Amino acid sequence: MKILTISAEVAPFAKAGGLGDVAASLPKAFEQLGHENLVVLPKYGHIDIRKYSLQPTDIIVAVPMGTWTEYARLWKGILPDSLVTVCLLENADYFDREGIYGNPEGFTDNDRRFIFLTRAAFEAARTLGFRPDIIHAHDNHTALAMPMLKINYSHDAFFNKAAGILTIHNMAYQGLYDSQRTMQFMGLHKRHFFKGSWFEQYGAVNSLKAGIMFADKVTTVSPTYAHEIRWTNSGEGLQDVLHARAADLVGVLNGVDYTEWNPEIDTMIYKNYAQNSLAEKEHNKHRLLVDFGLSTEEILDGTPLIGMVSRLTPQKGIDLLEKSLEHFVKNKIARVVLLGSGENRYEDFFRYLSKKYPRRALVQIGYNNSLSHKITAASDFFLVPSRFEPCGLTQMYAMKYGTIPIVRATGGLADTVVEYDARTGYGTGFVFHQYSAQDLSNAMNRALSHYRVKPHWDIVRHNAMSQNYSSLIAAQNYINVYQWALEKVR
Ligand code: ADP
Ligand code: GLC
Repeated sequence: MKILTISAEVAPFAKAGGLGDVAASLPKAFEQLGHENLVVLPKYGHIDIRKYSLQPTDIIVAVPMGTWTEYARLWKGILPDSLVTVCLLENADYFDREGIYGNPEGFTDNDRRFIFLTRAAFEAARTLGFRPDIIHAHDNHTALAMPMLKINYSHDAFFNKAAGILTIHNMAYQGLYDSQRTMQFMGLHKRHFFKGSWFEQYGAVNSLKAGIMFADKVTTVSPTYAHEIRWTNSGEGLQDVLHARAADLVGVLNGVDYTEWNPEIDTMIYKNYAQNSLAEKEHNKHRLLVDFGLSTEEILDGTPLIGMVSRLTPQKGIDLLEKSLEHFVKNKIARVVLLGSGENRYEDFFRYLSKKYPRRALVQIGYNNSLSHKITAASDFFLVPSRFEPCGLTQMYAMKYGTIPIVRATGGLADTVVEYDARTGYGTGFVFHQYSAQDLSNAMNRALSHYRVKPHWDIVRHNAMSQNYSSLIAAQNYINVYQWALEKVR
């Protein structure tokens, strides 16, 4: 199959969260399964073109934007450790800015930037002679690829045999745009937009809704989240839209690129280790603590280390930590290491904690890929107390590193972490259900109580490391969805 992936993030070039990881690991896995890929993303100003050997071409693509034409120069490269072709769209006006989305509020012309990206992806594919069987868009940023396929390109023989797939990574971001501008940039007659139309919500264009309505198949990133978004407020106001497409909606659990996230070969951690050499994991903990300035005495004091790497947004359950974490740190029950960035109030909470307990609350505000690997390898436990979590990747990474996840049973966290049962020796982590600080504290206490009981500690780590959430499994599941979609359009 020929698969065109369009995404606002593709790791390692441009990544704000898990979307970037998945938009890279899936095409790599498709390639291993024998499929052909073209991956399209913007050439953002911050992308390190030298590090990734990205090359400019002399191909300029004309991009219809309503009644006029705009242009993108194509840059080409490959996804590291693969032969997957990546095409980056250069347009300095749109993409040569600080960051990807312009957080926290978003750039005011994100509608125009992402419509340009999406439309340019079709035209780049045509120019490169890549006639796709599948057009796979990710999240609201590129969701308008679905109506484009079904309206703008419906009579275009190059594209109209392709099936359109939309993957929802997060219902909380929907891309609400001004209707006049959107119809204009998409080159669509205003008759396509009216109250109750597939584009419309509350008088605006809702990109995610339009994507859901026009896609041949809609997927989301875990089975539990697929259920939650229809039946709970995780649907963020689009429950009815999802009900309307229920027959074509499926949860496909994300997978992990184990060529990148594997303690046996990870080049970013201090020392490689495997299930049968967990003593080396301890070495990673020591080195991380040294890097955070702790003394030998402190390093050897036997305190368990709880790691966390996260965007700091309301989704991630930080308000539960505000109510519970200090107790553990203050009473020397645990040491915490956090890497994250996001909303000021959450950053301030962690700054407060680290200022008050500099030896036991180790905090790095910012984004740092290499440190995220080191923390995953060095920690004893990994905390993901999310309010909601479409899938979550960090708990899956943690398990592979023998770092025991403490998670809330929501979305993909519920699908991937099983509470450890001391009687049966079954389970991979510690799980709480109610969104409350008390339930989180109880789960942390259960987790910590097993830390010093060596037989249990060995078994739960062994169980966690034995899990297989490979992106090859996810990719095969997507291929099945693609085949199902093609039956519909051909
Ligand atoms: P989300 O996509 O909601 O942020 P995921 O768990 O799916 O959550 O993916 C988050 C990804 O982003 C992981 O690869 C994680 O390691 C990475 N990440 C998050 N925050 C940081 C940070 N501050 N520095 C480095 N990597 C980060
Ligand atoms: C989103 C979700 C996260 C998921 C990621 C990749 O950012 O918040 O749960 O793992 O996308 O699908």
